[in-house]
Amino acid sequence: MPQKIINHKFAFGVDYYPEQWDETRWKIDAQLMLEAGFNTVRLAEFAWAKLEPECSVFDFAWLDRAIAVLHEYGLEIVLGTPTASPPAWLYASNPELFRVLPDGRRLTYGHRRGYSPSHPEYLEHSRRIVTKMAQHYANHPAVIGWQIDNEFGERDYSPAAQTAFQDWLKHKYTTLEALNAAWGTVFWSHTYTAWSQIPVPLQTGATHNPSLCLAFARFSSDSYVEYQKLQLEILRRHCPNHFMTHNLMGFGYDQINYFDLAHDLDLVTWDNYPRMWWNISEGDEPARAALNHATMRGLKNQAFWVMEQQSGAGGWEYVVPHPKPGEIRLWAMQAIAHGANGIIFFRFRTARHGAEQYWHGLLEHDGTPGRRYQEVKVLGKELQNWGSKILQTRPKADVAFVLSYDSRFAFQIQQNNPNLHYSQLFKRWYSSFHAQNIGVDVVCATSDLQAYKLVVVPLLHVVTPEIAANLERYVQAGGTLVLSFRAGVKDEHNAIVDAPLPGLLRSLAGAKVIEYDSLYGAPSQIQLNLPTRATQTFPSEIWCDIFEPEGADVLATYITGHYAGAAAITRNRFGLGEVILLGTAGAELETEVLGWLAESLEICSKIVSPQGVEIVERSTKDQRFLFILNHMPQAQHIRVPANISNKLEQPLENRFITLEPFGVQVLRLKTDTISNEQLNPSTPKDFNVMV
Ligand code: GLA
Repeated sequence: MPQKIINHKFAFGVDYYPEQWDETRWKIDAQLMLEAGFNTVRLAEFAWAKLEPECSVFDFAWLDRAIAVLHEYGLEIVLGTPTASPPAWLYASNPELFRVLPDGRRLTYGHRRGYSPSHPEYLEHSRRIVTKMAQHYANHPAVIGWQIDNEFGERDYSPAAQTAFQDWLKHKYTTLEALNAAWGTVFWSHTYTAWSQIPVPLQTGATHNPSLCLAFARFSSDSYVEYQKLQLEILRRHCPNHFMTHNLMGFGYDQINYFDLAHDLDLVTWDNYPRMWWNISEGDEPARAALNHATMRGLKNQAFWVMEQQSGAGGWEYVVPHPKPGEIRLWAMQAIAHGANGIIFFRFRTARHGAEQYWHGLLEHDGTPGRRYQEVKVLGKELQNWGSKILQTRPKADVAFVLSYDSRFAFQIQQNNPNLHYSQLFKRWYSSFHAQNIGVDVVCATSDLQAYKLVVVPLLHVVTPEIAANLERYVQAGGTLVLSFRAGVKDEHNAIVDAPLPGLLRSLAGAKVIEYDSLYGAPSQIQLNLPTRATQTFPSEIWCDIFEPEGADVLATYITGHYAGAAAITRNRFGLGEVILLGTAGAELETEVLGWLAESLEICSKIVSPQGVEIVERSTKDQRFLFILNHMPQAQHIRVPANISNKLEQPLENRFITLEPFGVQVLRLKTDTISNEQLNPSTPKDFNVMV
């Protein structure tokens, strides 16, 4: 039933805070929402103090009235449970409800997300408000779903967390002997003789046992997964027809295993802010947003919503540059292209009070609908025309990237090299596919990989026998796998494997690491000899694995330093497939190797696009849509690989599409005329212009 509700329409809407505005304004706002083409509104995720002004004293009347107004205008409601920002009276009741930071300081009141997800008293307060809300809105005709809390995250080092961590460890290891053995606690006399001795890894000025740290990172992630379950269980009991979601934070957020968090939800939603003050220097990277979307889609391998789509300049202390004309539509369209079936804008009217006074929404501070509102209104009209037609389609991908939260956590504990960043390397590898308009899914290491022509696994540091077996199955059956340096180094407990590296991946790789070197300063050099390509020299950065092939061919060798002549990149045939192992890093080198692989596996771009134009396909067996997105501030032209037949609803002049600055075109491919799936400029195809 919840799936039916999620999929019955393209959700287009806004995050609205009726509690922040005079009640006389609500109808005006609802009318403006309707005119913008909205059909969905998220409410109440920060309204705890108004819903429960005193402990166990509830007031839902104001929210009932707000929902009634919105419902009158045909808007459907997603309700947020308000637990991300508890009222002052609740914290005042017990300061121990606050999280403790890694340096041992306890948070105090004044911001949000201050709570400890492990404190039993906080769990009790949460149960009470969530139960009351669920009971109250279970049968409300306007309510369709729930967002649990808001942007879960941040590890808690409080005594409550420590007790919960010890319980979590008991459950995982059963006996202290097993834990001591797995963690190698004999080192430095860290042997535990009682569960209560096990600490949380507060900053001590030096490294804790990496096994303890990885366990703590997993526990912290699980503490939010469990806290979410607590709310889900209540909501599902009372509201079986509503869908359940949480608003996640994209690929960039690295404190929670999002595969675990998404597992229990009906729908993944996430908050898409392409331009924040901390990424201004990187520019608006379309690849960054694309990777965020692909990751969110991959968590459940299904369509997602953007629950907060940036709709104005962001800012707490600073104000970031506002979206230029066309950019809000472009950002929303990019999300849709990558699999979003819902776009909800943050926020309706810009706040006059509070920490987010400078977080601009669609309306100005004074309630005026200005340029940003008008742009969204145009998008609303478009989506009313074709939004529902794409609901069953999904982005096409022949390539999968394996995202390993365990490995990511392990590098947070021991970075290995100051320039080694899991997220950066992952994004860089992803970007080389994105630049060629090659669709990529992001999956977890135990996913079924058989559908992919190529599986790319950057920095798979922590490997379990189950993961190794899954990768072997894939390659055995004919798949092509790319592994990197620092793969297979750690076992499940973050201990180093008792075998030559890459440990459990050694037979797959057909090579072993005989030595490694962590580079500081000047890069080393390698010579790359790819079949079908000329020999080239590339800088080799950050890390050098020195391989001894055990059946693998050598694709690159080091040419400088004392390991000149040793293998740096290998290629091994395994079963019907093959494994490429990159022993070193370097942007140009990676682009060359990954580009060569895409070419040899014929995972080619569909249409040659100019710099800054992204092309994404969403399709089913019988329907194909192409999203052509211009991320540049100037108009661009692209040549459509088609002989335009007179069957087209709107014929394309001269086979050229002009994209306005930040413009987007959505084309429907006339699948009835396509005999072979291959689309490239030399094989004419027909298009219908939709937008
Ligand atoms: C996050 C939160 C919102 C708001 C926006 C803008 O995504 O979920 O409540 O704070 O950021 O800052």
